[in-house]
Amino acid sequence: MTDALGRVRSALVLGGGSEIALATLDRLAIRGLRRAVLLGRRPEVMREAARELASNDVEVITLPFDADAVDTHQAVIADAFARYGDFDLVLMTFGTLGDQATFESDPAAAGHAAITNYAGAVSSGMAAGVSLRAQGHGSLVVLSSVAGQRPRRDNYVYGSAKAGLDAFARGLGEALHGTGAHVMVVRPGFVRTKMTAGMKPRVFAQTADQVAASIVKGLDGGASVVWAPAPLRLMFMVLNILPQSIFRRLKA
Ligand SMILES: NC(=O)c1ccc[n+]([C@@H]2O[C@H](COP(=O)([O-])OP(=O)(O)OC[C@H]3O[C@@H](n4cnc5c(N)ncnc54)[C@H](OP(=O)(O)O)[C@@H]3O)[C@@H](O)[C@H]2O)c1
Repeated sequence: MTDALGRVRSALVLGGGSEIALATLDRLAIRGLRRAVLLGRRPEVMREAARELASNDVEVITLPFDADAVDTHQAVIADAFARYGDFDLVLMTFGTLGDQATFESDPAAAGHAAITNYAGAVSSGMAAGVSLRAQGHGSLVVLSSVAGQRPRRDNYVYGSAKAGLDAFARGLGEALHGTGAHVMVVRPGFVRTKMTAGMKPRVFAQTADQVAASIVKGLDGGASVVWAPAPLRLMFMVLNILPQSIFRRLKA
């Protein structure tokens, strides 16, 4: 349960090796986080990545979870809630960027990335929604991306899945409205993490910790949508109304 000040005491992470997730937990640890249950493909790697968290007096539990294995999500998430709940926060941070050029020569790889980024988010998001509704409190924070706002030539497979994920998460937020549970969609721009290693940063590039700060601020304010950083909201209002011929020439 959150404490008297509404601070997060316990968190469940879907994609527990994510740098944005770990930065968010590090920030929450300073404010009283006591337990973090990390779900991901490589429990040992996650445990190592979360060592700072563990040294900060947070109990860290790691469990196997594969976003692509949609048939397993309901059982895995219900089990995590049964054994370690309740959770004030469920953080959905798994995802794969992939490589657009590879996708164009390997359509099956594009399909697999879409399963991870969209289908896996739908099944695990639905399962998390069921458990949060039953609890009657808690926030589901879903990592979307500005890539879903307007498709770009260089990452439209990823962007299209994020567009679907974003719509799904906002719809789930409506479905949970009035139950005590809450959904917050986070739309970062370029973030310097292992996902973008070796890539040229885009405008308004951020660190994982800066995104984490936006997430914590959004949770404090009960936000439904958070842009990270905030000026991206205005930027995409403009980009979304530009004629395609102009948008095509931009490196936004
Ligand atoms: N970095 C950016 O520029 C950026 C911008 C906008 C949005 N986002 C979104 O923010 C979220 C977090 O990204 P990040 O920057 O923190 O990247 P990250 O450190 O690479 O984290 C992504 C995590 O997803 C996990 N993952 C990938 N496929 C999975 C699968 N099939 N099952 C379970 N876990 C899987 C990875 O696990 P492994 O360690 O096992 O590979 C990794 O821990 C993602 O949803 C990403 O799309 C990132």
